[in-house]
Amino acid sequence: MGNVKRKSMSESRSVKERQVFPQDTNHLHTMFGGMLMANVDEISAITATKHSNSQVVTASTDSVDFLKPIKTGDIVSYEAMVSYAGQSSMEVCVQIIIEDIIRNERHLAALSFLTFVALDEDGKPQEVPQVYPETQTEMWFHDTALARVKRRKERRNESKETIAFLANAQNMK
Ligand SMILES: CC(C)(COP(=O)(O)OP(=O)(O)OC[C@H]1O[C@@H](n2cnc3c(N)ncnc32)[C@H](O)[C@@H]1OP(=O)(O)O)[C@@H](O)C(=O)NCCC(=O)NCCS
Repeated sequence: MGNVKRKSMSESRSVKERQVFPQDTNHLHTMFGGMLMANVDEISAITATKHSNSQVVTASTDSVDFLKPIKTGDIVSYEAMVSYAGQSSMEVCVQIIIEDIIRNERHLAALSFLTFVALDEDGKPQEVPQVYPETQTEMWFHDTALARVKRRKERRNESKETIAFLANAQNMK
């Protein structure tokens, strides 16, 4: 991982741009949610890898809010940054933005939060650098992260109970 213990959010910020084609859309001519999520997963993994300088895995997709339909021909930017770093985990936020280049407008179409974990060569969680914000937007994502981390921990505990029940009830390992 090197000696860097703190990194700015902008150091690992990553952007992917795509135009929506007919094969990316459903019968309503709006983009498949699953395709959007695949793009989100890819760009956020790149961001987490840049921040940690290590292999990463998706631990959870915490939320995806679809705010506006994305239509055939739209140009979509996926803007990802690490908004919080724990010991080995990183929260990545992704803004999915429709770029209306002709009108020079940007529309927030979806918003997603995911958690990635950095792994060492043996596949075990390893320490990641802390992250600090510089711009007003980065500060908002960073400052609000602790509340999301708390909710995520509560959800994970609930999930453990569900997993234990299912494993027991259905005789699964
Ligand atoms: C994610 C994974 C590495 C966690 O391993 P683990 O042995 O449970 O690790 P730990 O309990 O020590 O947790 C390590 C960190 O991950 C976080 N974490 C683990 N599971 C999480 C979850 N479901 N959601 C959010 N954070 C999670 C922990 O809070 C901890 O964070 P911290 O180090 O910053 O405090 C492991 O569950 C795994 O490999 N899962 C499969 C990942 C994968 O294949 N993803 C692709 C899906 S197609």
